[in-house]
Amino acid sequence: MSQYDPIIVQEVAPRDGLQIERTWVPTEEKVRLIDAFTDLGFSRIEVTSFVSRKAVPALRDAAEVFARIKRDPRLIYVALVPNARGADDALAAGADELNLVMSASQTHNLANMRMTGEASFAGFEAIAAKPRGKVLLNGSVATSFGCPFEGAQPEERVLDLVRKYLDLGVDGVSLADTTGMANPRQVRALVDKALKLVTPDRLTLHFHNTRGLGLANVLAAYEAGARRFDSALGGLGGCPFAPGATGNICTEDLVNMCHEMGIDTGLDLETLIKLSRTLPPLLGHDVAGQVMKAGRNCDLHASPVALAS
Ligand code: COA
Ligand code: ZN
Repeated sequence: MSQYDPIIVQEVAPRDGLQIERTWVPTEEKVRLIDAFTDLGFSRIEVTSFVSRKAVPALRDAAEVFARIKRDPRLIYVALVPNARGADDALAAGADELNLVMSASQTHNLANMRMTGEASFAGFEAIAAKPRGKVLLNGSVATSFGCPFEGAQPEERVLDLVRKYLDLGVDGVSLADTTGMANPRQVRALVDKALKLVTPDRLTLHFHNTRGLGLANVLAAYEAGARRFDSALGGLGGCPFAPGATGNICTEDLVNMCHEMGIDTGLDLETLIKLSRTLPPLLGHDVAGQVMKAGRNCDLHASPVALAS
């Protein structure tokens, strides 16, 4: 038993990872990947998004993906939704959780969702009022740590959106660093304040590694009390409507760091690395993950020096 609290890792490669890929990933390959995440024992997987097919053509097979993946009843299969139409489609497809997304930044919300933040939120009120059985709601605040159009976002604006989501009755809240503008000191300060509004089991941090600070930000958030993190296999990911966006923090790099530090994730690093190595041939390009190239610390090499016997 480790002396440190474990973390929950939500795998977002099927959604955040694939939404920005130019190469079409066939539905059966998406299903293969998601089924592998189920087998790996993730407790939460963001499967896809129910958004306009013109906005994100890469995920236009969302309903089919949901219909074909195998389901472990202990896992939460999440769908990102931007509006009431997306919520209806995600509920019909059998999502366990709807991830509502809007931005702290008005300009990014207009670019990404083609509507104001107020209009996004009005849609979420309509979604929250719908009968949805046991389906959970999560509220995400994109650009929480900075916007590529507007720059820094006031902490109060982000916290205000957290409060509004909680008033709506969401089960969880995510703070997203859409284009990797966060730094560890800023993360610590915002997580401290967010944890006065919501308990750690209901708060997720969603970091991108755009400026190389992803895992430093994870550690800062962990030390401030955060215990739930989004990450993408291979470090895939990025918002198609944020200039300069690049990948999420990389799942196997996150798991490697945590395990080396004695923080349990419940995931098997060797299996993750094997799966990550299937990504470059699938996507036709190298991926950002580092541990999938370097191997685990314990994958030692034969000594080049012949020892005298
Ligand atoms: N799922 C699928 N199609 C949808 C949809 C949804 N949730 N919401 C709207 N549409 C369709 C409409 O039916 C319409 O189709 P048509 O052109 O064939 O008639 C088209 O999309 C445009 O609808 P409209 O209501 O005018 O939306 P819009 O063009 O103003 O776009 C969003 C609004 C929210 C649908 C769009 O900006 C979007 O999907 N954004 C998501 C972007 C994203 O996923 N970013 C990364 C994740 S944060
Ligand atoms: Zn993201």
